[in-house]
Amino acid sequence: MSERLAILGGEPARREPFPSWPVWDGREQNALMEVLESGIWGISGDGAKITEFERAFAQAHDAAFGQAVFNGSVALEVALRALDIDYGDEIIVPAYTFLATATSCLMAGAIPVFVDIEPGTYNMDPAAVEAAITPRTRVIIPVHIGGLPADLDSILEIARRHDLHVLEDACQAHGAAWKGRRVGAHGDLGCFSFQSSKNINAGEGGMIITDREDLAEHTWSVHNCGRIRDGRWYQHEVLGSNYRMTQWQAAILLAQLTRFEDYARRREDNGRYLAEQLTRIDGFDALDRDPRVTQHGYHLFISRYAPAAFHGVPRGRFLAAMRAEGIPCSDGYVPLYRMPAIQAGVRQLKHAVGQEGGFPDVLPDCPVTERACSEEGIWFSQSMLLGTHEDMDDIVAAVEKVQAGASAL
Ligand SMILES: Cc1ncc(COP(=O)(O)O)c(C=O)c1O
Repeated sequence: MSERLAILGGEPARREPFPSWPVWDGREQNALMEVLESGIWGISGDGAKITEFERAFAQAHDAAFGQAVFNGSVALEVALRALDIDYGDEIIVPAYTFLATATSCLMAGAIPVFVDIEPGTYNMDPAAVEAAITPRTRVIIPVHIGGLPADLDSILEIARRHDLHVLEDACQAHGAAWKGRRVGAHGDLGCFSFQSSKNINAGEGGMIITDREDLAEHTWSVHNCGRIRDGRWYQHEVLGSNYRMTQWQAAILLAQLTRFEDYARRREDNGRYLAEQLTRIDGFDALDRDPRVTQHGYHLFISRYAPAAFHGVPRGRFLAAMRAEGIPCSDGYVPLYRMPAIQAGVRQLKHAVGQEGGFPDVLPDCPVTERACSEEGIWFSQSMLLGTHEDMDDIVAAVEKVQAGASAL
């Protein structure tokens, strides 16, 4: 007989909380006091903490240059402006991602073209990218979803063949590596976020990395009101705005960076262990890991739920049962092209540049994204992976318990 599920009045599988987020100590406190007392709170003066963080972060991500900005959304926008995107250009983005991947295109005047994801990895499907290319395509934005690197070899090869830029949306992929090299500067530019939930966190913050000096210069100008390095303060040469990071953010981020590699190893170890343990459960799998992924960023541990293996229990009810067992989890995204905000933005922009077109009357054909969003994808947050193997065992035990009791749900 199966154990009574907590959602039906039984004992929860776990009562302990998982590790909380954010993590901070005297390092963050001292760094903030240092900024306070220095009187240099922004880039004016010398902005030394910002520069130090740019260098340290770029180096940790195998890139030559880093440009700090105030969040990940504007990092994407600044990066696109640095690529000289023109009104009505098309940018290929996955349909399974956070809003900003697509709104950054719209803000830069370009039309996001949504493509489906691979069923195994939930990352942009290279075959779908190739099929979506038109004479107006300028950029491909692979998103390393949940910290799992997208198939960069295929995407870079397609980009080379069609003379397109690659902007990596690595906002969830701090520390992730593809074939031994950290993500972000495999393509032309890469963007990161330091928003509250992210694996390096200052509440808000963003970074653009690149190996190309010309693009580094251009992002600097765009992020700093269009100034040029050796120009005067009121000399504005490039269309840009104020996207600057503060010294407060940089100070916190430098402190967070001191823990980062250790935490990244812990997440990797627990993520691998959890994925391995889940293989014994029918109908509940971790996403596939390509052997070329040499480090998973594990911003999220994403798994795939098959209702058929759980007496047809819909995902929402399964999630409620898991939460009642003491395991926090969630269902994730809605296909981006279904968002009214995106539909309105695409409609407006197409109208402004005189383009006719189906979308949003005819939605993109993305069956894998639809399935991931409506019934399959389940997320566990990064801080849960900062615990122990026993914590991972509790997650697995709760899934097994809910599966055994599913007929009563
Ligand atoms: C894939 C992706 N892109 C972009 C962003 C935007 O970053 P931010 O929240 O710092 O603006 C996020 C953050 O949630 C993200 O997950």
